[in-house]
Amino acid sequence: MRPAPGGAGASRIPIVFEARTLLAEPGQSLAAALAAGGVLALRQTATGAMRGVFCGMGICQDCLVVVDGVPSQRACMLKVTAPMTVARQTSATPAPAARSRPPLSLDDLVAEAPQVLVIGGGAAGLSAALASRRARAEVVLLDDRALLGGQYYKQPGLHHGCGHLDRQQVEGRALVEAVERSGAVVVAGCDVWGAFPATDAAAEILATEHDGARRFRPARLIVATGAYERGVPVPGWTLPGVMTTGALQTFWRSYRTLPGPRVLIGGNGPLNLQVAYELAQAGARVVAVAESAPRPGPGALRALAGMLATDPRLVRDGVRYCVGLVSRRVPLLYRHVIAGIETTPDGLAVTLARLRGRATTETRRLRADVVGMGYGFQPSSELLRMLGAAHDYDGARGQLVTRRRPDGATTVSAVYAVGDCGGLVGARAATEEGTIAGLAAARSLGRGRLPSLAGVEASSRRRLVRARRFESALWSLFAAPRFEHELSRTDTPICRCEEVSRGQLDAALADGRPALAELKQRTRVGMGPCQGRYCAPVLAAFLAERHGRPLDEFAFFAPRPPVKPVAIGDLARRPGRSLD
Ligand SMILES: Cc1cc2nc3c(=O)[nH]c(=O)nc-3n(C[C@H](O)[C@H](O)[C@H](O)COP(=O)(O)OP(=O)(O)OC[C@H]3O[C@@H](n4cnc5c(N)ncnc54)[C@H](O)[C@@H]3O)c2cc1C
Ligand code: FES
Repeated sequence: MRPAPGGAGASRIPIVFEARTLLAEPGQSLAAALAAGGVLALRQTATGAMRGVFCGMGICQDCLVVVDGVPSQRACMLKVTAPMTVARQTSATPAPAARSRPPLSLDDLVAEAPQVLVIGGGAAGLSAALASRRARAEVVLLDDRALLGGQYYKQPGLHHGCGHLDRQQVEGRALVEAVERSGAVVVAGCDVWGAFPATDAAAEILATEHDGARRFRPARLIVATGAYERGVPVPGWTLPGVMTTGALQTFWRSYRTLPGPRVLIGGNGPLNLQVAYELAQAGARVVAVAESAPRPGPGALRALAGMLATDPRLVRDGVRYCVGLVSRRVPLLYRHVIAGIETTPDGLAVTLARLRGRATTETRRLRADVVGMGYGFQPSSELLRMLGAAHDYDGARGQLVTRRRPDGATTVSAVYAVGDCGGLVGARAATEEGTIAGLAAARSLGRGRLPSLAGVEASSRRRLVRARRFESALWSLFAAPRFEHELSRTDTPICRCEEVSRGQLDAALADGRPALAELKQRTRVGMGPCQGRYCAPVLAAFLAERHGRPLDEFAFFAPRPPVKPVAIGDLARRPGRSLD
């Protein structure tokens, strides 16, 4: 389905895709432009399986295509600004041509030394940068996207705008503009791929951006890298057209693209209802929302009252989503999970199973063109863990939580963690954590002892308490069994990148109790370009169960640089200069 984006038309950009010419809106992501032209299968794996957009946020690497002869371009992150020729990437696609000069050594790269370096320009990072600036510290903020705002404030990507902006986008725009006006140096499109301990700085940070490599040695580091969606392996979860709910949301909110006319969303939590509502409003036929939590009954009144007392506006939003979906006759199937997906001549056939506790019972099959899976989030704490910050495993939410002081300081001197990267908190709490840590970081440098800032901090602390109360009531409303590997079959890939199935893991475990590292060596699980982000939590749970041991920080893969795939050629470019 291809609704015309607001104000579209005049200057569409041609994309030649395998002998077809498609027209993209300026600023649209390549993935959205291809999806608008009906192309969802973007990459072919070594076993011949097709893949398409899954994460929609640059992590999974399933959307890799060849653009103007250059392989391994992430279609979800690449913006269309000029005509291009695009081809599907296969395992036979040659690697990029080697560059002629040797890489720079680290010493060739001048280290920039801001007082405060913030990594991540979402709710938490923007608030931290603004607070540090208000306290008169020098601030540099890095974000890997072209547009700041992160996931909650997701900004419209089309150059001519996306028509009506919703409240989240309007608030986000105001915050981004406030940071830009504050005097903070903002570097968008800058991937931080390494964080190393340093003796005379908070950390040694390595990053790449479009025109070269960057190196930072800040006095204080604030990590605000957010979260990504959990992967729940079910049969068919790697098929083109099956993606995270967040990816579906990005298609519409950032690029005004519906990747298919019939959409089914399954998962746990309010984001699924919000995205289903937004897509239904945009004209998609939402065939069902399968929520694994039970339907809220009289027992939910206490949680609802708590939420109303702390943030009535968000409760009103939730009610609006539910009423909007019901009035459009969208079935809201509580206690249901996606149990499998298959391709058919009439799109995707999705099997939904009813839950009784953790057991799946009666099933039903529904047809859709696109499936969104939103089973919660995992913190993006790789940089913090690389730096050696201590973490604790939170069994209730199935996540690693960064050990911190109330001001956000981690166990590593001069390093702060704010927002979802330190443990899932939601956008409101992320904002307040950012403000508190931004002020604390500046204060630790002898800045920001202004009386007015004491008031700002006190209000932020009060709002943080309320936001945390809201989140805990919200999640008690959506309490549901958490699935890791339980819905997979023997032939279901657990590791998307290396195509390692549940059966292969079972076989590797048959002759003993190998540790995670050994399992990795035997099967290549977790060794692909997403660096185990999707399979590691599943594997950790799988092994803990097999070994009869509780999960802890050490049950997960240790993050290794680069935390994001970086082309050697990009590392070898000085800022502002290309080797070519
Ligand atoms: C896909 C997705 C969609 C969501 N949609 C909603 C929603 O609609 N409503 C809602 O209430 N909540 C939503 N959430 C949850 C909500 O986004 C978070 O609670 C909130 O955004 C947290 O703010 P944050 O600043 O911690 O993280 P984010 O907003 O995620 O910001 C983190 C930023 O850091 C950048 N970053 C990450 N790693 C690096 C790196 N290595 N180098 C440079 N930059 C980096 C990211 O690109 C991002 O811009 C969503 C979460 C996800 C993952
Ligand atoms: S969909 Fe592009 S990297 Fe995941």
